[in-house]
Amino acid sequence: MPPLVPGNGVGGVVSAVGDGVDAGLVGRRVVTATGGSGGYAERAVAAADSLFEVPEGLALADAVALLADGRTALLQLRAARVGAGDRVLVLAAAGGVGSLLVQLAAAAGATVVGAAGGARKAAVAAELGAKYAVDYREAGWPELVRSGTGGLDVVFDGVGGDLARAAFELLAPGGRMVSYGLAGGTWAAIPPEAAAARGVELVAPGRPDPALLRAATAEALAEGAAGRLRPLIGQRFPLERAAEAHAAIESRATTGKTLLVVRE
Ligand SMILES: NC(=O)c1ccc[n+]([C@@H]2O[C@H](COP(=O)([O-])OP(=O)(O)OC[C@H]3O[C@@H](n4cnc5c(N)ncnc54)[C@H](OP(=O)(O)O)[C@@H]3O)[C@@H](O)[C@H]2O)c1
Repeated sequence: MPPLVPGNGVGGVVSAVGDGVDAGLVGRRVVTATGGSGGYAERAVAAADSLFEVPEGLALADAVALLADGRTALLQLRAARVGAGDRVLVLAAAGGVGSLLVQLAAAAGATVVGAAGGARKAAVAAELGAKYAVDYREAGWPELVRSGTGGLDVVFDGVGGDLARAAFELLAPGGRMVSYGLAGGTWAAIPPEAAAARGVELVAPGRPDPALLRAATAEALAEGAAGRLRPLIGQRFPLERAAEAHAAIESRATTGKTLLVVRE
């Protein structure tokens, strides 16, 4: 409900701490979530125990980009039990979570199909490690995927709707359909009986417990620092132009993560 300061994931340098909080935090580079609001600001307030120190060797902007998307991608990868030789389709493969899933699945030894809206985004997926890259704005993309892979073992779906249903049809028996988002506006809504009839498992990860989320966040930051996970920051806007950033995301003009920058 307005009035509201939007913004959740933030990063910066601790400028002050409250009573009873370790003063040694001041000056540290940290990322955190503000609890759903208050992030679009020059200064943000967060609980001390919610902070993640940014590992050495990882740029602050990269840490912000990995904060939510990195743990989401790691948790989806595990939920799908992706292993070497799996044929894995990532929808919105040039998006925030999608661009990380492409990298993680390829690193796990999977054959990755990056599917995205437009040739430019498909090319981004290929650069990130997708063996096949398809533009799902072109009719006939499912046939291209089928002829290239012979069928899929895993679909990562952050889009939902018709695209997700078309991807579901490409899964082979034993396949896993992981639905973690609905960027297109509606969930995939695959009927459980349709999945059972095809021998496909529907994986809709619930909200993991806070300790697991925290561990996955720390792991994503460590993987970023080690250079094994590269966040794709597609565009940056100054905070004053946040509305333009939202418009770009809504019009699907963005790749990877969109950052609002207060100062660098
Ligand atoms: N970020 C997280 O940590 C997280 C955690 C849990 C769930 N989720 C959910 O997962 C989904 C993807 O998140 P994300 O952060 O990766 O988003 P994102 O970077 O904005 O990527 C979303 C992509 O979805 C595609 N898309 C398809 N239809 C769209 C439409 N009608 N409007 C806008 N985009 C559309 C676009 O790619 P193309 O142009 O290539 O189609 C877009 O780039 C969202 O539903 C989000 O709520 C995210």
